[in-house]
Amino acid sequence: MAGEKLKAPRGTFDVLPGDGERRRRLGAAADELLGAAGYGAFDTPIFEHTELFARGVGETTDIVQKEMFTFEDMGGRSLTLRPEGTAPTVRAYLEHGMHKWPQPVKLRYNGPFFRHEAPQAGRYRQFTQIGAEAIGSDDPSLDAELIVLLHELIQGQGAQGVRLRVGSLGTPQTRREYSDELRAYLKRNESELSEEVRARMEANPLRAFDSDHRGTQAVMENAPRLLDRIADDDAEHFQAVREMLDAAGVPYEVDPTLVRGLDYYTRTVWEFTSDALGAQSGVAGGGRYDLLAEQLGGPHVPGVGWAAGVERILLAAGAGDEARSRVDVFIASERGITAAEFKFLNDLRGSGKRALMEQAGRSLKGQLKQADRVGAAKVVIVTPDEVRVRDMETGQTQTVDTLEDAAELL
Ligand code: HAM
Repeated sequence: MAGEKLKAPRGTFDVLPGDGERRRRLGAAADELLGAAGYGAFDTPIFEHTELFARGVGETTDIVQKEMFTFEDMGGRSLTLRPEGTAPTVRAYLEHGMHKWPQPVKLRYNGPFFRHEAPQAGRYRQFTQIGAEAIGSDDPSLDAELIVLLHELIQGQGAQGVRLRVGSLGTPQTRREYSDELRAYLKRNESELSEEVRARMEANPLRAFDSDHRGTQAVMENAPRLLDRIADDDAEHFQAVREMLDAAGVPYEVDPTLVRGLDYYTRTVWEFTSDALGAQSGVAGGGRYDLLAEQLGGPHVPGVGWAAGVERILLAAGAGDEARSRVDVFIASERGITAAEFKFLNDLRGSGKRALMEQAGRSLKGQLKQADRVGAAKVVIVTPDEVRVRDMETGQTQTVDTLEDAAELL
């Protein structure tokens, strides 16, 4: 049944070899780094009950209002492809009674997430996050530890032009009082504000700080700042986080207007950006969510964590030096690979050698070219009369009688 050639859905992409290797190397680096700091490997399902995100991420957020891939199952229950990993992590913590484990419970994940956003460079409808969450303690060392680990992960990949901004949102109570103050300020300056900010100012006045509208930006320069309003214990908590970041030598800027697109945050929030990226400059972000467990029907359980965009880290790191995977031996054969050579190759692989063979019917000349292309250190050339072993670096060739003899030279 011929027809139109099908393509991957808009905002999705295929991972091709080369890129695939880089992604797995990044995953391995995260496993190593986070594993060593006590963050255990953890996964949640790709889809959850829609209600989890409505309650966890927040009804007024862009994510819940317009970006979720939501569908009904056969039984009429509303399910959603996960747009983020923190609400599912806390759901799992509560579901599995992890409060009975030694606290804090530290978890790491790496997998696909889904948001129905307008696709552009660095912004996809299916993307990949590496995340880390520490649940069950409000100790500021956890906030600092997580930021330090994230900094190491991003720097370790050679990401360019990276900036870290940190802030503190205090408590919802402080935020409500502050929102009233900010709303009153915005109302006093309403005529200067963008249409969009005016429309959202009742529901979420804080978003006005994010506006790229000139008039709004001018108004926001003199707006009251949440960071100046947070309670003493929240300010002390933030101060402790900052002292630890200073001690660790992680450079950052305090951003008193830092807002994040998810509603569960309390106290510390942060964001890593890279100016190697375009408009979608956010490489990673995170923060504390001390009230999320209660919002999901559990007891009071503080938590803190982050997620990093795999695609954005790799974009910010540029193409990098594409270290070709090492190939020890390539087996070329004038008459095509026979069972004897096939066995020889498998024995080589069994002894730990990275071995490839001719598998596309090339001429002997073409096979040597292929061996060079894949970066083979040595080539075993099989002809009806003899076996030659060529060192691709020196160009030296030795002639032997059998494959067994050739093995001695590899
Ligand atoms: P987020 O800031 O919404 O936070 O997303 C984290 C990262 O995911 C972003 O910095 C970005 O690199 C990547 N990302 C988000 N949307 C897209 C997209 N459409 N295309 C490509 N990359 C994207 C969270 O998701 C929180 N759960 C982080 C967190 C964990 N907070 C506490 N714990």
